[in-house]
Amino acid sequence: MGKGFYISKAVGVVGVILGAGALATIIALSVVYSQEKAKNNNNEVSTTVGPTVGPTFGPTTSKPAVTTPAPSNEAWDKYRLPKSLVPEHYNVKLWPRLTADPTTGLYIFTGESTVEFKCTEDTDLILIHSNKLNYTELDNGQWARLSAVNSGVKAPAIKTSRLQPVTQYLVLQLDGKLLKDQWYHLFTDFTGELADDLGGFYRSVYMENGLRKVVATTQMQPTDARKAFPCFDEPAMKATFNITLIHDPETVALSNGAQRESKPVTIDGKNLKQTDFEQTEKMSTYLLAFIVSEFTSINNTVDNVLIRIFARKPAIDAGQGAYALSKTGPILKFFEGYYNSSYPLPKSDQIALPDFNAGAMENWGLITYRETALLYDEAVSSNSNKERIATIIAHELAHMWFGNLVTLRWWNDLWLNEGFASYVEYLGADVAEPDWNIKDLIVLNDVHRVFAVDALASSHPLSAKEDDIQRPEQISELFDAISYSKGASVLRMLSDFLTEDIFVMGLRTYLKEFAFGNAVYTDLWNHLQMAVNATGTKLPGSVQDIMNTWVLQMGFPVVTINTTSGEVSQKHFLLDPDSEVTAPSPFNYKWIVPIKWTKTATAQPPYWLEQKSATNNEMKTTGVDWVLANLDVVGYYRVNYDDSNWDKLLNALSTNHQLIQVINRAQLVDDAFNLARAKIIPTVRALSTTKYLNNERDYMPWQSALGNLNFFYLMFDRSEVYGPMQDYLRKQVVPLFDYYKTLTVDWTKVPTGHMDQYNQVNAISQACKTGHEECLTLVKGWFKKWMDTKINPIHPNLRTTVYCNAIAAGGAKEWDFAWSEFQNATLASEAEKLRSALACTTQPWLLQRYLEYTLDPDKIRKQDATSTIVYIANNVVGQSLAWDFVRDRWSYIFNQYGGGSFSFSNLINGVTKRFATEFELKQLQQFKADNSEVGFGSGSLAVDQSIERTIGNMKWIAENKQNVLNWFLAETKP
Ligand code: BES
Ligand code: ZN
Repeated sequence: MGKGFYISKAVGVVGVILGAGALATIIALSVVYSQEKAKNNNNEVSTTVGPTVGPTFGPTTSKPAVTTPAPSNEAWDKYRLPKSLVPEHYNVKLWPRLTADPTTGLYIFTGESTVEFKCTEDTDLILIHSNKLNYTELDNGQWARLSAVNSGVKAPAIKTSRLQPVTQYLVLQLDGKLLKDQWYHLFTDFTGELADDLGGFYRSVYMENGLRKVVATTQMQPTDARKAFPCFDEPAMKATFNITLIHDPETVALSNGAQRESKPVTIDGKNLKQTDFEQTEKMSTYLLAFIVSEFTSINNTVDNVLIRIFARKPAIDAGQGAYALSKTGPILKFFEGYYNSSYPLPKSDQIALPDFNAGAMENWGLITYRETALLYDEAVSSNSNKERIATIIAHELAHMWFGNLVTLRWWNDLWLNEGFASYVEYLGADVAEPDWNIKDLIVLNDVHRVFAVDALASSHPLSAKEDDIQRPEQISELFDAISYSKGASVLRMLSDFLTEDIFVMGLRTYLKEFAFGNAVYTDLWNHLQMAVNATGTKLPGSVQDIMNTWVLQMGFPVVTINTTSGEVSQKHFLLDPDSEVTAPSPFNYKWIVPIKWTKTATAQPPYWLEQKSATNNEMKTTGVDWVLANLDVVGYYRVNYDDSNWDKLLNALSTNHQLIQVINRAQLVDDAFNLARAKIIPTVRALSTTKYLNNERDYMPWQSALGNLNFFYLMFDRSEVYGPMQDYLRKQVVPLFDYYKTLTVDWTKVPTGHMDQYNQVNAISQACKTGHEECLTLVKGWFKKWMDTKINPIHPNLRTTVYCNAIAAGGAKEWDFAWSEFQNATLASEAEKLRSALACTTQPWLLQRYLEYTLDPDKIRKQDATSTIVYIANNVVGQSLAWDFVRDRWSYIFNQYGGGSFSFSNLINGVTKRFATEFELKQLQQFKADNSEVGFGSGSLAVDQSIERTIGNMKWIAENKQNVLNWFLAETKP
């Protein structure tokens, strides 16, 4: 390694370097601290919210005034790295301090790094990513030391060192050229803040036996590795890493590689430990992880791979890691078989963190999770919590190959990475829990979910151009429902029409060819094509031709089948047919559509719709026969029929709904409601699909109906339609409520099936929502018993809805009880249930107080702030309070909580989803205009989506209110 690297030198020297760096930085940071503090003291939020809401100070949390750099051709003003330097290997040593500096109150980390890189083009400039790091001046008077690897070559001297904060570079200008095909070492010594901002190297805090404990942990994806150490922070700049962590002897240090050595060291008179990790495989920076904690673990070994689950000691002692541990081995084995590639690392660690922004992160060999996504307690967790754990583990393990071993070259292809993992997570979870039929749920959780946003004119194609994705915010914005759920949906469709065998065959050769390297999405198409060719499979075009229609243009088609003429046609499905689509559409909204269908209940040969319109005489029907297309909703499209076929389908539902398979029952409801939204069929026809529900016991159709009816609640829960709607829905759900009452022997047993457990929750929540007395008495009784006895009698599956309804029916006493249970919960998912239920109160003052709590990290963790605000907005009483709150404090919320990725679009969509008046539209437009300076980060697209949605809602209400009211009245006439 470079001669600047100290790894082999005496420990004392290390101490001096790290210690001196730390001192310099504390001074540097404390200057920023006092400046920030002065600023924040005038800050409206910190004064209104009260002293406990100390905004976190320091350079890592304060946003530099980001101005778009003036157009310039200088390399340091470009967001993408020049191609002249290519990293090969890094030695990184980091020392996070888990206690605050007593004078500044700051938590910091210090570090030293040597990167070895190759020069591929002569240059006198070194650009390396660096964000919010402070550098120590070295003996050459610069922030870095450069040396050549080859003794025959002399490295030029560094002339100037500076930071370019907008594009996040350390810029080093040299007094001569680095030479093509030569290798160099660059050494730096630096300090950063270990802030509570959930990005880069950050701190997480929790209480244990009355003691406050700090964890140092990382979240690098997409662009925060540069906040931990200077690095070439692009996914294609793969390198190997030697990581070393300095930490207190009573803590454990973890990183991607297995521990190589952990030995005592003394630095600045402190007795510490230095832990070295095995060198990593060649990997991208965004997959790195470093963690120092007092956590403990459980483990097992599966075929020589050490599998460990780490968490807070009390959580591990209580057995909360056991479920995850028991499922990891089987899922890992499944993916090894599926990919035909053995897991390339000797260990697989998974760790549950008290503060974590996303759900989980696929760091290679050290996967990080929110506690709710990994920890499970049979007595306290619900089946839904369990499902989340199984699927999220499967998702992240899927990335160990797809994403980590083979990485997309640039973020514009993120959809393939996340879409793929979001598809195969169901395959992995199905192996872990074969009785659940979990693969069916992709239809509700992904296909239907993303249809809602992909039907908007403001949607966007899956694939983005590489040049259009540059800034970190643009990258963050890609982590949306389109990338995840549309990605998953079209890959599932592809796998289905190719057949799973061919899909897997192409996938395996793709992984083999690009292992430890990078690819673009068309590389996968090429490998699938090779598999198609090798097997002689007939398709209407190449994989690329077919998939281009789904990947390069936004939206999806509605396929209309006329069973009288046999005509089959397609057009772009837009929720608001009058909305204006400005995005270019390379195929003029024509897709190559695979259609699986049945005539009555008999399966037919699949049909490809390749034109805007075609005739298929097989689809003509006579007599009682009907056509049902898009079996199991494997296709990414909606289906409409001529009136008589719709009548026959509705008739089949009401006479013998089992004739139609369960996923398609859910589809008929969802398609009908959305076709009605788009004015393709009358709204009353959509409502008619709910008439058979009094005989339906299956989860998926119910869930689909309730999801769609929720839109009716959003639009009408403040209008005269509400009463008759409630009467109708109560009439429909009471049979389901009674069914479960009998099945569970008066609510004393748990239904066996996973889906049945879910539908029991629907039965209770909908019965209570419509005011069914027996339901309300039941849930209030349970909650009161809990308050009286302090022993919780409510089954975990039912807790979310029971808590919510009891708190809604109660007052401050119930709320305060739930709040104290929330604060004392020992399992994160129990806290989560209470946190959502606390938003159900109907008392405005409690809701307002709760809103204030969301910005106090001592009350509501930062990771949970935006979702809590959205919970409050979901409550009809809380909606306007939440909107006012968000408007008022946008700039504070944005600056303090803006680091996240999904959370900001969820926040904006969440607080505006009831909007349906001119007045609300104006407010929204005003909000957009007022905050154009501050910005919306990952929520930018959501602002436009919300505006579009509001306009659509206004029109929908104007056109539908009277009909809908009449229909509910007619259906509930005695
Ligand atoms: N790579 C993501 C985590 C991530 C998301 C990092 C956004 C940075 C920004 C991870 O693989 C992921 O997708 N996690 C999901 C869970 C999954 C089951 C959909 C999450 O965090 O919700
Ligand atoms: Zn993922």
